Parts: sequence; structure tokens; C-alpha cells
Amino acid sequence: MNRVVVSRRLFPELIDALRADFDLVTNQEDQHWGGDQLASALSGADGALITAGERIDDALLAQCPKLKVVANIAVGYNNIDLAACTRHGVLATNTPDVLNEATADHAWALLLAAARRVGESERWLRAGHWKRWTFEMFNGAEIAGTTLGVLGMGRIGRAIARRAAGFSMRVIYHNRNRLPAGQEGGAQHVSLEELLEQSDHLVLVVPYSQAVHHIIGAEQLARMKRTAVLVNIARGGVVDDAALVAALRAGRIAAAGLDVYENEPALNPGFLELENAVLTPHIASSTRGTRIAMATLAADNARAALAGQVPPSLLNPDVLPNRRR
Ligand code: DGY
Repeated sequence: MNRVVVSRRLFPELIDALRADFDLVTNQEDQHWGGDQLASALSGADGALITAGERIDDALLAQCPKLKVVANIAVGYNNIDLAACTRHGVLATNTPDVLNEATADHAWALLLAAARRVGESERWLRAGHWKRWTFEMFNGAEIAGTTLGVLGMGRIGRAIARRAAGFSMRVIYHNRNRLPAGQEGGAQHVSLEELLEQSDHLVLVVPYSQAVHHIIGAEQLARMKRTAVLVNIARGGVVDDAALVAALRAGRIAAAGLDVYENEPALNPGFLELENAVLTPHIASSTRGTRIAMATLAADNARAALAGQVPPSLLNPDVLPNRRR
């Protein structure tokens, strides 16, 4: 049996299903495995199911001569050095599609909560401040009939845009490449500058790479509407968090709904002091059904790779001629 390491705690039924096929090494205690512990856990493994918190790079792969597949239980894969995997003959996979709807739902949860000041007003109420109703209490931002901007109109971006129809919103988006007309779903491609200036609310879904590091910084925030809500469900590093804290503090934009941060789980402490920031701990895809679907797809990827087949969501097809056997 192939030895497969699962780097984080999973639901017990998922572990049971994996045990049927693999000689399994688990981390059901969910201990933090730093780089060295991860390398030592993977050193004798044929495959690994990991999450976005574990980094796979050249140094680690050099210590894992038997490793044939790294199956990320995440759609984002900026934790994996794909070129290094290819050099070492290791297949890398992710979990696209199965999380589109749950992640789009969470983007809307953040947008609605930030725009309508849900967290702020609830904290105020729980603190016992509600003595009498007033006409102007917690006026929020308009949503219905406004313009939604999407930066990164991939599969999740399109699921977010579809939901905007229910709010009678116009949708604009920016991608490096315009989508084919059949995939735009009525959304209009605009430049990044137009996206910043015209969006009443802006959702960031762009996959992280060095090319988009701090694509939203002080200059871009200054171009946005003062009444706008910014939502980030992409990755920390897409936004310059220090610049965002400053913009929120100054009322340069109205509010933000954030699921991801630079250096998470450590947060820029400025966020914690801001009433106009809604903050969740990187849970956009976290429904039980979606988590099961993600882990199941990762397991399918590992199974296929270790059977010598091409996994359903292979990220580095260039590796195939030189894959480890
Ligand atoms: C993803 O799938 O990329 C989510 O952000 C979870 O890590």
C-alpha cells in the first residue's frame, strides 16, 4: 500500500475512507507542523494531502525522495512551488469547482454584513447600548441597483456575479484577459482603473501570484468611491493591509469584508480596532458539504496519481513525462 500523509485533521469519515486505500499517516491531533516537521512527516511518503497552510518547496521536496503527489485541499495553490514539483517529478493538484458556490455565498455574506453594518450594530446591541430606536441608526450602504465590481472573473467570480442578478446590480469585472462572450453572463470587462472608479462595491477573487501582490494598495483605494465596500476572499497579499487599515480609518472607503490577510493568522492589529471591517478567519469555503467535496477530490487526485493515472485536477501537466514512479 502507498503511504499517504494527511497534514491536518479531517472529518473521521474521510479518514476512514482514505484508510481503505492507503497506509495512512494522520495528524488528527491537528498539531502545527512547521517546515521541518512537515518534511520529516513526508520524508517516507508516496503522497500527501495538505492544506493551504503548508508550504511545498524545493528544500522540502529534496528531503522526500519517494513523494509522487501533493494534493492540496484548496483551490488556491500559492503554497506550492509548482516549478519545484515539476523539477522533482512530483504531481501537484488542487480542488477547483467544488467550492465555487460556498465561496461565492461567503463573499456575499461579507459584502452584505459590511455594507449594512451587521457586525458593528450587533456589537453595539450586545454591549447594552440600545435604549431607544432612532431614525438614522446605522445607516448602511445601498446594494440593490448598484454596480458590483469583480477582480478575477474565474469560476468563483462568475458565481458571485450570478448572485448579483438577484440584487438587480450591474456587474463589471477586470481580468488580464477578457472572457469569451458566452462566459461573461452580462458582465462588462473594464480596465482596473475603471473597475476601481465605477464599482459601488468591489470583490477580490484573483488568485495570488507575485504579479498581483498588493494590486490593491493606497493608490488604488484612493480611486474607489468613498461609499464603497471592499471584499477580499482571494488571498492575503493581494491587498496591502496597512494601506487598507489607513483607508478604513480615514473613511476613504466605507467598509471592508475580509476573509484573508497578509501573514494570517496574525492580523494587522489595526483591523481589530475598526468598526467598519467585518473579519472572518479564512472560512469562505467552509461548509461541511464543501469541505467533504474538497477532501474527496484531493483523495481522488492522490489515488489517480499513485495508480499511475493523470489526476482530475493536475496543476503541472509538464511533469508527466518525468513523473516519479
Ligand atoms: C482555497 O481553497 O484556496 C481556500 O482559500 C481554502 O484554503
